Amino acid sequence: MINALIDCDPGLDDAVALLAAFGARAIDVKAITTVAGNVKGPQTAENARIVREVAGLDASTPVCAGAPRPLLRDPVTAEDFHGSTGLGDIPFPSPKHALSETHAVNMIIETCKAAIGDPLTLIVTGPMTNVAFALTMAPEIADGIHEVVLMGGADREGGNITPFAEFNVFADPHAAAAVFGSGLPIRCLSLDVTHGVRATPQRLDLLRVVESAQAQVAAQFLEASCKLEFSAKGDRDAPLHDPSTVIAVTRPDLFTGRRARVEVVTEPGKQFGRTIPHFDEDGPVLWYEQADSDGVFDELARLLGEYG
Ligand code: RIB
Ligand code: CA
Repeated sequence: MINALIDCDPGLDDAVALLAAFGARAIDVKAITTVAGNVKGPQTAENARIVREVAGLDASTPVCAGAPRPLLRDPVTAEDFHGSTGLGDIPFPSPKHALSETHAVNMIIETCKAAIGDPLTLIVTGPMTNVAFALTMAPEIADGIHEVVLMGGADREGGNITPFAEFNVFADPHAAAAVFGSGLPIRCLSLDVTHGVRATPQRLDLLRVVESAQAQVAAQFLEASCKLEFSAKGDRDAPLHDPSTVIAVTRPDLFTGRRARVEVVTEPGKQFGRTIPHFDEDGPVLWYEQADSDGVFDELARLLGEYG
């Protein structure tokens, strides 16, 4: 069993990542922490609560709201790619189960401290503000973290929010610099790999034949993502950004890359938020570059079929 905590900014693709992780029998999700990113902080927290209930879970899986803004820079959001609600403006009933009263940063600290001796996997699919805060407030939590598997950054592919920067890093580059520079073992799913894993109509059909309500909702989320990606960028098939982190946890063999030290550009200017991997076999970050994209979608379908 892989114990995990997921820090996210739902977000359509975060929502699919959560559904995959909640469904995976090999993953025990200890808590969800949310951060401002795709939409404003309170909305990401509400969206995580909505997805928790789509997964059939209750408040025994805590959802904790976190940083409402980045460490230093002005806040940015991405409604163009996620809709005004963050879940593609798909109507859902208001979530019944309450938000935890524990702040996300404190939940990360408490959960990682409790994991010392049986360290957990920290999955990060949004701006890294909460994680940076937690590591700064309590550096000893590193002993409770087996690895960080995160979606963020870009090198070969260039950026998706500026020509150089990927959204999660651009939204809080100072936090990203703190996390990449923490020395923690990191596996990084940047645009260099997620741009090669696309939600094509054939792959969406693969999800639609999975016999779980959660698979149908995940297909709806990805369909909405494709529509928004097309209207925003003219791409028909949305990249599978955040769910790829969960697939990298259950099927690391589907990905290949090189080890690196990752530099983040935090100086103001056109490269603000750019990530620069300095490839080095002793680097703390495994910078993924390739994925078996058919294998990733097969695994996503499998995980979404593990409900019930
Ligand atoms: O650049 C893609 C990332 O930014 C994904 O995590 C998506 O959810 C947005 O947060
Ligand atoms: Ca995200």
